[in-house]
Amino acid sequence: MKFFIDTGDVNEIREAHAMGLVDGVTTNPSLIAKSGRKYKDVVVEICELVDGPISAEVLSTTYDEMMKEAHEWHKLHKNIVVKLPLIPEGLRATRTCTQEGIRTNVTLCFSPNQALLAAKAGASFISPFIGRLDDISETGMDLIEKIVTIYENYNFKTEVLVASIRNPTHVVDAALLGADVCTIPFSVMKQLAQHPLTDAGLKKFIEDGKKIPR
Ligand code: G3P
Repeated sequence: MKFFIDTGDVNEIREAHAMGLVDGVTTNPSLIAKSGRKYKDVVVEICELVDGPISAEVLSTTYDEMMKEAHEWHKLHKNIVVKLPLIPEGLRATRTCTQEGIRTNVTLCFSPNQALLAAKAGASFISPFIGRLDDISETGMDLIEKIVTIYENYNFKTEVLVASIRNPTHVVDAALLGADVCTIPFSVMKQLAQHPLTDAGLKKFIEDGKKIPR
């Protein structure tokens, strides 16, 4: 399973990348707004740090405007994947991008049928938001199971990019279901490495290590 980092903070990307945990990066307008920087400046800096798919989202909602933004992102750097919303105009833009050889990440997916439409439009990635489904008392991981099954049934090439991950259990459950990618906030990436028995075991090894004659 590939790990993407879900952030607009280049320092987090640098730190996670140094641990070998960054196969790609996803951004969205909310994450970039937190950085206080221009969207293009942040994305170009990320592309120079990470040689993998870097999702950059369009900010418009009509087909013509989305295509204009898609072309601008595509020209900016070879690593950029254009992130488009799962609305009818977004699906139309996805199809055109695919025909033009522009990679896409279709975002804000909350149902299996939406994922089916994105695959039929030729999306490179589909981003189901599992945490936000959990937030409204649905089980986000059920959506991943359904999308993985549907894509396998018809051999769709669209990669399942599990998004809106909030905790380590989301990551292991996505891996058990065979999702292609998890995009993970840096805080959750750090949690993945933690275990109290590791800490306790290390403490004991360090103490006993001091007793070894040198
Ligand atoms: O990649 C989408 C993700 O950033 C959304 O996460 O936590 O805002 O639902 P969240």
